Amino acid sequence: MYLILLGPPGAGKGTQAKMLAERYRVPQISTGDILRVAVAAGTPLGKEAKTYMDRGALVPDEVVIGIVRDRLTEPDCQGGYLLDGFPRTVAQVEALTRMLRELGVPLPTVVSLDVGEEEVVRRLAGRRTCQACGEPFHVEFHPARLEGVCDKCGEDLIQREDDKEETIRRRLQVYREQTEPLIGYYQTQGLLETVNGLGETGEVFARISSKLEGRVDKAAAP
Ligand code: AP5
Repeated sequence: MYLILLGPPGAGKGTQAKMLAERYRVPQISTGDILRVAVAAGTPLGKEAKTYMDRGALVPDEVVIGIVRDRLTEPDCQGGYLLDGFPRTVAQVEALTRMLRELGVPLPTVVSLDVGEEEVVRRLAGRRTCQACGEPFHVEFHPARLEGVCDKCGEDLIQREDDKEETIRRRLQVYREQTEPLIGYYQTQGLLETVNGLGETGEVFARISSKLEGRVDKAAAP
């Protein structure tokens, strides 16, 4: 399975990506998660990325493209991958298309999760994430059994720096300007499946899965 999850911040990409990666046994490649690990570790990459992430801006293309290129050449990506949060700009799409051609792997199916802005703000403002394993929770829609503690690994839940309302609005603006145009591009390529992202996470997962069942991976153009 070769898959890209597209959608605004808070559409549920990370939540669905975890479920899909398990179901289809492919690695989940989340550029946001990779960058947050670098930020937490205080590496030079993390220090640079933090200056963009904290204000809801995109990290420069060349940085993110380099991360994805390195990751896609690892052995576990040979049989498939699930990209979550990449590509986000036209330059990233072009770089990804080149990479896939060079690696000789099939073109992805692109699932665009459709969720309105007010719902997205509600989801992000209430999001809590496990600081150890990254499992997502929501104070209202998906609360942890014990408040502030991860159901899966028992570590503390935290609120992301960029989940303040003002930064959420900025991220949405960046999405509209830089990422939303990719939907039209992938539609033209015949790679796009649009899925309603509203409803229980299990319902959304079932909708995505049924769209994926009928698809055959397309080879990248030589
Ligand atoms: P990234 O981490 O990719 O954030 P994002 O795209 O803004 O997406 P989110 O993680 O906020 O939301 P999501 O769609 O994954 O939703 P989730 O499943 O968590 O990027 C962060 C930053 O890193 C960027 O701003 C940028 O600076 C940088 N970056 C990353 N990639 C980059 C790139 N390619 N280029 C340049 N810069 C890049 O769900 C959200 C909440 O809703 C959770 O609480 C969840 O429990 C809840 N929820 C999920 N599904 C449902 C549902 N069906 N019903 C109710 N609640 C739900």
